[in-house]
Amino acid sequence: MKELAGRVAVITGAGSGIGRGMALAFAEAGMDIVVADIDDEGGRRVGKEVEDLGRRCVVKQVDVVKRDEVEALAEQVWSEFGGAHLLCNNAGVSTFGMMCDGLPDRDWDWVLAVNLHGVIHGLQAFLPRMKELEGDKHVVNTSSTAGIGTAPFVSPYAATKHGVLGLSENLRAEGAAHRISCSALCPSGVNTGIVESGRNRQADFGGPAGTGNDTVAKFIAKGLDPEWVGRMVRQAVIDDQPFIFTHADTRELVDDRYERMKASFDWATAWRDANPGESE
Ligand SMILES: NC(=O)c1ccc[n+]([C@@H]2O[C@H](COP(=O)([O-])OP(=O)(O)OC[C@H]3O[C@@H](n4cnc5c(N)ncnc54)[C@H](O)[C@@H]3O)[C@@H](O)[C@H]2O)c1
Repeated sequence: MKELAGRVAVITGAGSGIGRGMALAFAEAGMDIVVADIDDEGGRRVGKEVEDLGRRCVVKQVDVVKRDEVEALAEQVWSEFGGAHLLCNNAGVSTFGMMCDGLPDRDWDWVLAVNLHGVIHGLQAFLPRMKELEGDKHVVNTSSTAGIGTAPFVSPYAATKHGVLGLSENLRAEGAAHRISCSALCPSGVNTGIVESGRNRQADFGGPAGTGNDTVAKFIAKGLDPEWVGRMVRQAVIDDQPFIFTHADTRELVDDRYERMKASFDWATAWRDANPGESE
């Protein structure tokens, strides 16, 4: 999507971290911004920053887990702005530090609901409307390096981020006929509030909780500046990149995963050769 100025970007989870970084980067490029976040205070702070850049900003308190709230967001955007050419499904949370069998159901439910259903709700509400707009449209879904490689002790998070990566690649293929493209944002450490994501945990999932984990907190504190990530995302949208890898060393994760997969084909070929008649 080459033309940004004068268009509208809707960003979930824009009240903090990477979402805020994207909101500022797209505002700098002349876009009007819709900040959607469960944290109204954070959303309003970012709304003020966007307005200080001279752009129009609507701040809406939205829980992406609630389909009717995301639908109401889309309705409001279309009635106030006439549409949005860019949707960033970015809101995300995580639990940290437990093996997959030890996590309570409520932790699984929370992370799956926000990170996966939140993205699905964004696509359900916005895609039918975006299809009707003239010109190129773009969706950025925030996945993670945990959506590509192994990420021990954050299993619900990894499951959702693999899901978001798959959804994004599918949308890129499916959306082409409607001039809707899609990028999967795959960051490694970025210095944001992600380690404290339990701060905004909804009552339905047990209410606010400390999710902090010292090791992860130190890793995240040394992470990239989210505003820099926002600018990288902006350029990737202009250049229509399918994946946005913020960290160079993620390449090793990709290589490692596909090497392990290819090695499994060698093993399977040897097994088939030893067991003729059982394969195609
Ligand atoms: N920070 C990292 O190192 C990192 C790495 C890879 C991927 N990510 C992903 O980046 C995205 C943004 O996270 P961040 O790191 O900026 O963290 P953050 O906590 O700073 O920002 C996340 C925002 O999402 C909002 N949010 C949480 N639940 C919500 C809900 N139900 N509905 C609407 N908004 C909700 C929060 O209020 C917050 O403003 C997430 O999807 C996260 O998984 C982050």
